[in-house]
Amino acid sequence: MKPINVGLLGIGTVGGGTFTVLRRNQEEITRRAGRGIAIRMVADKDVERAKKLVGEAATVTADAFEVARHPDIQIVIELIGGYTVAKDLVLTAIEHGKHVVTANKAMLALHGNEIFAAAQNKGVMVAFEAAVGGGIPIIKALREGLTANRIEWVAGIINGTSNFILSEMRDKGKGFDEVLKEAQKLGYAEADPTFDIEGIDSAHKLTILSAIAFGIPVQFEKAYTEGISKLTQEDIRYAGELGYRIKLLGITKRKANGVELRVHPTLVPERRLIANVEGVMNAILVKGDAVGATLYYGAGAGAEPTASAVVADLVDVTRMETADPKHRVPHLAFQPDVLSNLPILPMTEVETSYYLRMRAFDKPGVLADVTRILADSSISIEAVIQKEPAEGQELVDIIMLTHRTVEKNVNAAIARIEKLSTISGKVTRIRLEELGKN
Ligand code: HSE
Repeated sequence: MKPINVGLLGIGTVGGGTFTVLRRNQEEITRRAGRGIAIRMVADKDVERAKKLVGEAATVTADAFEVARHPDIQIVIELIGGYTVAKDLVLTAIEHGKHVVTANKAMLALHGNEIFAAAQNKGVMVAFEAAVGGGIPIIKALREGLTANRIEWVAGIINGTSNFILSEMRDKGKGFDEVLKEAQKLGYAEADPTFDIEGIDSAHKLTILSAIAFGIPVQFEKAYTEGISKLTQEDIRYAGELGYRIKLLGITKRKANGVELRVHPTLVPERRLIANVEGVMNAILVKGDAVGATLYYGAGAGAEPTASAVVADLVDVTRMETADPKHRVPHLAFQPDVLSNLPILPMTEVETSYYLRMRAFDKPGVLADVTRILADSSISIEAVIQKEPAEGQELVDIIMLTHRTVEKNVNAAIARIEKLSTISGKVTRIRLEELGKN
């Protein structure tokens, strides 16, 4: 059988890795896919650099639309990134009857519903394993391996840059800005590092996981997103004293009245495996009703780890080329005509536990005032630490862990605590997840 012809849009880090992995493992990949997979065309702004990388193997052009429309190309790999041009290219490729493989989480989180509908209409596949968790086959695990389960929740470290920053801050006591610069130098961060540190990249990925876990459309605009840029050394240290690590988690949970969809720094008990995922590594915990909790761990970024996912998708699409289009694995795991309209819950309805840190004047009755306010809001306290004031200081840190409660109760309590004359400044609130049974 003749090899399947592939057009590659963007030969940067991941594109280069894809080219290398395909060439190095050509023989085994052919045996697995049932036919060869050949990159015949490459589009990149830097034509000269691209030509040097691919040699005689493929023609190189600066015009990505030429590849997306080319009659000889059967699969288009989109590795350009961003929302606008990438989306036009993907829709053009679909319109011309081509399958698409993409690592573009931002595009899918924002425009996935439109893209999947267009692909369904044309009977082509859009494969996106590389969009979440780099080389970790989490899309396949959720969509196929766990298909027997009613998924209860998914919680993951899905941004390597922010995990690297948190690990370095905890291990080496370094400040946030210093570690961010280091991460940028090491090439981990997104083009715009705000996406990494403010939780946006994680929210893009979580949106996709949530849709696949619960059979709902992608709804990035409803995700609650809070990053790590305001975390302090003290909070990391106090969390440690209480037996917790702080991780930037993407969490999506099925509740009776809807779906929680949220990214924020989270206290995780240090005994959990996921609490020990350090550096740029990613890990995703999935709780299914039948299988229980399962954990997927690996490199969430980088040339060859991400290429591993891109090439896996190429093999899948190559195999599926011969299958009946009506019986392919659905894009979002559930058949498109039965996606559910389960609402995404507002953040005020989310239920979790909380770490609260406040600065108080060291006077009698302060703790009593704070605990009364919490009791009034039906919040029960699990642990309290009160620090001694530093030499010559009037203010002390009070740290509290609460039992599970709904976010609106905590909002109300924080507003009242901040008004107390004995409390100085804002209350720091970090959510806490046991990641056990619930
Ligand atoms: N900037 C991303 C990260 C790259 O740090 O995880 C992979 O999506």
